[in-house]
Amino acid sequence: MPITSTNRHVRPLRSQKALVTGASSGIGRAVAVAFGRAGADVAVNYRSSPGAAEAVVAEIRGHGVTAFAHQADVSDEAQVLRMFERLREELGAIDILVANAGLQQDAAIGDMTAAQWNKVLSVNLTGQFLCAREAIREFRRRGLRPEISCSAGKIICMSSVHQEIPWAGHVNYAASKGGVELMMRSLAQEVAPERIRVNAIAPGAIRTPINRAAWETKEAAERLLTLIPYGRIGEPEDVAQAAVWLASDASDYVVGTTLIVDGGMTLYPGFSTNG
Ligand code: BGC
Repeated sequence: MPITSTNRHVRPLRSQKALVTGASSGIGRAVAVAFGRAGADVAVNYRSSPGAAEAVVAEIRGHGVTAFAHQADVSDEAQVLRMFERLREELGAIDILVANAGLQQDAAIGDMTAAQWNKVLSVNLTGQFLCAREAIREFRRRGLRPEISCSAGKIICMSSVHQEIPWAGHVNYAASKGGVELMMRSLAQEVAPERIRVNAIAPGAIRTPINRAAWETKEAAERLLTLIPYGRIGEPEDVAQAAVWLASDASDYVVGTTLIVDGGMTLYPGFSTNG
């Protein structure tokens, strides 16, 4: 079927090829499935849960597109290079990268080990750098394909409200996300002349395994809600919808921006009755 404005509207990522890292659970999973629903072929990267990744692949294929799972640790350069080789073999090209894989290893500063610091920085920041670099090389190799998209490639860096909200007890995580913000904007500045768009999403408290302790019990959820003016905990789908838009031509003039998806968490709700 030719791409028309109508079917682009229904399936805004039609005929595009996407890699979503850390896609076997949480936000990555929701983004990968939403991309399939939007018409993209999707590579589902995971590190340690092949069964969960295959379930995501099956769900994506249910939307009539191509999907496969690929195991790789995004902080390992050789593994990232192999992953992009596989993408070239199986999909021929890549149009969209969602650099989503990330983790927390929390500790008070007096107890935080160098290993915890390095692990979080290497997955959350170096991992995004490695994947973004390979995606940009791939976008350049393939060039602009106007029949597929107005831009030569899109990168979405998964950041966090903690790229701007300081977070005691999580200095490694907050530092990694602060790094993502300026990495994203610097990359965006560097490659925008080539019609490559780099942007980020900064989710707030989204109901996923990474923050289970913060929403699992009634008491914890109530405490968390005091930080969210909009009055509900976010769902992975809230972020997935933002990612579809940022990856689609509907956002073609959006370059180097962080889209905050947080129910107002960054509005300093503590100041609504104080200060
Ligand atoms: C963290 C979550 C946290 C949320 C809001 C996210 O980036 O991964 O653990 O609940 O920020 O604080």
